Amino acid sequence: MKPPPSPSSARALLPSPPIFLCLVSVALVAVVYLVAFPGDLKLQEVFSSLPCSNRAVAGRSATPATVDFRLFLGVLTRPEYYERRALLRLAYSLQPPPRNAVIDVRFVLCRLDKEEDRVLVSLEAAAYGDVVVLNCTENMNDGKTHKYFSTLPRLLAGDGDNPAYDYVGKTDDDAYYRLATLADSLRGKARREMYHGFLFPCDIPREYQFMAGFGYIVSWDIAEWIAATPELWEDGRDKGRPEDILFGEWLHKGGKFKNVYGERPRMYDYMDAEMHVNLTCCRHELRADPGTVTIHKLKDRLKWARTLRFFNATQGLKPSKMFPVEL
Ligand SMILES: *[C@@H]1O[C@H](CO)[C@@H](O)[C@H](O)[C@H]1NC(C)=O
Ligand SMILES: *[C@@H]1O[C@H](CO)[C@@H](O)[C@H](O)[C@H]1NC(C)=O
Ligand SMILES: *[C@@H]1O[C@H](CO)[C@@H](O)[C@H](O)[C@H]1NC(C)=O
Repeated sequence: MKPPPSPSSARALLPSPPIFLCLVSVALVAVVYLVAFPGDLKLQEVFSSLPCSNRAVAGRSATPATVDFRLFLGVLTRPEYYERRALLRLAYSLQPPPRNAVIDVRFVLCRLDKEEDRVLVSLEAAAYGDVVVLNCTENMNDGKTHKYFSTLPRLLAGDGDNPAYDYVGKTDDDAYYRLATLADSLRGKARREMYHGFLFPCDIPREYQFMAGFGYIVSWDIAEWIAATPELWEDGRDKGRPEDILFGEWLHKGGKFKNVYGERPRMYDYMDAEMHVNLTCCRHELRADPGTVTIHKLKDRLKWARTLRFFNATQGLKPSKMFPVEL
């Protein structure tokens, strides 16, 4: 396992100027195409046809020698959350890469309706190659999740019977997956009719449970089934209920609630001694053991800082004359 890069090598994560220029031209086109012609573009093709190597900073794209599975993990966020994306890129780029698995972390937005976002997010996408724009308007429970899962099979189609990914996940921008631990937890699990996350509400019969919205992963066949079954959304949209509850209902009703893996207590809400809150089934302090898969409710910089330090992202930072690190 490679140690996380030291701060001095963090610069290496940024594209060098010629690479940057070539990314700008290709990725600007990519973003525009995704919005304008979603049916005509395979994201995979766009990014893999880039003549530039450093194509995704969030999530390690370097292909390990043996790949057990591939996961596409979309962070659903909004165009204006520039700082949060910067923090997430930092956090994911410093993680040790998952063993024998490819996990591509991408930011998922609806259409860029504001002039400033069209320009700035396009540049961001050009620099990092990790932004996906769906044909929707930003919303909380009005179809973004459905749009995401139903668009991916078309965007990421593989060749013939080999899809580009084995799993597709969604997460929120206040949640943090630890990719190596996640990969170990997915290894050996079902590849079909699979639903992985935090089963909620905690102590009720399974037939009423769903995966909490801060992070869940399904097998590729489920994304294809959602894409092929538009009535799932059409029938559910008037209910005004959170989409993640509806998502669970689709699987129950569709007979797809089969290989279900609840990761409690390895997925949980952030808590520290200063918060004056009580333990719940969703919330406890950061844990090294058993390995944490996801931490949720990272609502501010201090919570991110404490989480990253707890999980040893800062271990091995070397002070220099320029930067006398003091933690
Ligand atoms: C985007 O979605 C709207 C509403 O569903 C549709 O009318 C429009 O044709 C879509 N745009 C593209 C480029 O597919
Ligand atoms: C935590 O639990 C204690 C004991 O049940 C209760 O008195 C207190 O109000 C709770 N605190 C919060 C923040 O809910
Ligand atoms: C961080 O590193 C220390 C020292 O190597 C180790 O004891 C601890 O378990 C690590 N923490 C986590 C969360 O892995």
